Amino acid sequence: MLKVGVLASGRGSNLEALIRASRAGERLFEIVCVISDVATARALDVGREAGIATYALDPGQFGKKRDYEARIVEILKTHEVSLVALAGYMRIVGPELLSAFPGRIMNIHPSLLPAFPGLEAQAQALAYGVKVTGCTVHFVDGGMDTGPIIVQKAVAVEEDDTVSTLSARILEQEHIAYPEAIAMYAKGRLSLSGRRVIVKRSETNA
Ligand code: GRF
Repeated sequence: MLKVGVLASGRGSNLEALIRASRAGERLFEIVCVISDVATARALDVGREAGIATYALDPGQFGKKRDYEARIVEILKTHEVSLVALAGYMRIVGPELLSAFPGRIMNIHPSLLPAFPGLEAQAQALAYGVKVTGCTVHFVDGGMDTGPIIVQKAVAVEEDDTVSTLSARILEQEHIAYPEAIAMYAKGRLSLSGRRVIVKRSETNA
């Protein structure tokens, strides 16, 4: 079974969705550890309550980002992690972590990338006036929300949407998209052609 390590900084609802998906149906993957850069992150409670090993790391305690990430890599290797899932992890991944897991780090972002990268993507979409937004699961590269796209889900923007109502509908789709992307990875269905992620048909709909 694919061993997944999750990095999260906050609420942890995507983590919850991943745990739920991993424990239902085909059991294609398992969340084996949760690491947070925020000691009070709810994501750590979610992990603990699910009986998963959790780690709070204070980046300030490490001299350099390189050392902080080296500790993350050490934890991930201890748990024999094959895939790293960023779920509301509010830091740019540096070379130390990227090179330890090349092509094996995913992220989820609340917009249809490449539109609205960075912070407050839902507010950016609303302010811009797009009629459709959504969420994206992508592989992580050295940039901010720039890596190859695996899954996207569209969400219509309604006339009376606020950031909070729109974010809530996007979040529902995030909770579907992330398990879907990891399941495809676990089944070996993903390959790269340039920056395009090619999704091999699954046997069931071949
Ligand atoms: C999500 O909207 C995710 O797309 C973004 O950060 C938020 C994390 O939410 N990267 P949660 O911690 O998973 O509830």
